[in-house]
Amino acid sequence: MMTTTRAWQFREIGGPEQLELVDHELPPPGPGEARVRFEAIGLNRADLLELAGRYFGPPPSPSFLGQEAVGVITELGPAVEGEAPAGGYEPAVGDRVGLMVGRIDHRGMGTYRTAGIYPQRTLLPVPETLSAAEGAGFWLATLTAVAGLHAGGLTPETAEGKKLLVTAASSGVGVVTLQAARTMGAKTIAATTSSNKAERLKVLADHVVVASTPEAMVERVAEITGRTGVDLAFDPIGFAYAPALMQTAAQDGHVVFYGLLAGMEAPLDLRTMIFKDLGVHGFTVHRIQRDAALLDEVVGITLGLAERGGLRPVIADSYPFERAPEALEAMARNEHFGKIVLELAQR
Ligand SMILES: NC(=O)c1ccc[n+]([C@@H]2O[C@H](COP(=O)([O-])OP(=O)(O)OC[C@H]3O[C@@H](n4cnc5c(N)ncnc54)[C@H](OP(=O)(O)O)[C@@H]3O)[C@@H](O)[C@H]2O)c1
Repeated sequence: MMTTTRAWQFREIGGPEQLELVDHELPPPGPGEARVRFEAIGLNRADLLELAGRYFGPPPSPSFLGQEAVGVITELGPAVEGEAPAGGYEPAVGDRVGLMVGRIDHRGMGTYRTAGIYPQRTLLPVPETLSAAEGAGFWLATLTAVAGLHAGGLTPETAEGKKLLVTAASSGVGVVTLQAARTMGAKTIAATTSSNKAERLKVLADHVVVASTPEAMVERVAEITGRTGVDLAFDPIGFAYAPALMQTAAQDGHVVFYGLLAGMEAPLDLRTMIFKDLGVHGFTVHRIQRDAALLDEVVGITLGLAERGGLRPVIADSYPFERAPEALEAMARNEHFGKIVLELAQR
């Protein structure tokens, strides 16, 4: 039987004003698929990039949007032999689940909708201790944080006493990166460009730096670390912050770049990079899709940190589902602290 859902769709690239709310008919889940009825949807910077045609190139028209949500499995299609579930999780009807970034068709299905059909291997359990809004912001940011720290050599085994610098610290990913690293035992430094947000970051990090300029950030991090530098800098900004981050790094330290907030290109400080023997890494969370053992490890670490109470997305704002364009406009203003989510009225 077909199910009618409501979904946000766009036909032209641009901004949130391009979104229109439409009815979308869903067939029953096919082999290896599940239907999930959503409670809440997580917004990501990538959604704005996708709307602008700057994410994976120009999207088809029409296109759906979104990569993150939490909901309940309402129907499962037949199992497919040989298809491994994500992180060992076996989905069942009634389970509360989130979606794994990189495995869903964000253009053909997306998550800005009341319900959707997804491959079962994209589903991951969401801790019951999290509210709908927190659950919506859980898996994408935490997998990015935990796998990204792992790429820079920071794991529960290695983290004790290591110094970590997180830039754009008030972002959805930044907040859970600080939580994850702290729970693992690392010493955390949060950098934000906003002095308004610095106060709120104090509860999440050991030190807070107002990085009004890259130079100011380098100087403050040097003071905090007694000029020894950080073992890992984790950054989604790039550009002028790139050489500055190399200057903040310790001898044999690492810098992980995972976003393009300030543009596609960045100057490199080769001298510092070479003389400090730095590990400089590009990272996307999609890496875990190519390595089943890494995926299992990262999902295991994430669930372990959540069980210890160390991972709980901070919700900046929650909007009703019907106000998605307004929520995206708020994200573009960069005034938020943590995750912006959409919530669906539950019948
Ligand atoms: N590689 C991956 O796999 C992966 C996965 C998920 C997300 N990402 C990337 O991670 C980044 C953060 O995503 P999100 O959804 O967490 O973002 P978000 O919640 O919208 O946070 C954005 C924050 O970044 C800072 N910022 C924005 N533009 C800036 C600029 N030009 N210069 C300096 N700081 C700037 C601001 O923080 P302050 O006010 O604190 O400075 C802003 O509030 C995005 O670039 C996204 O594409 C990458």
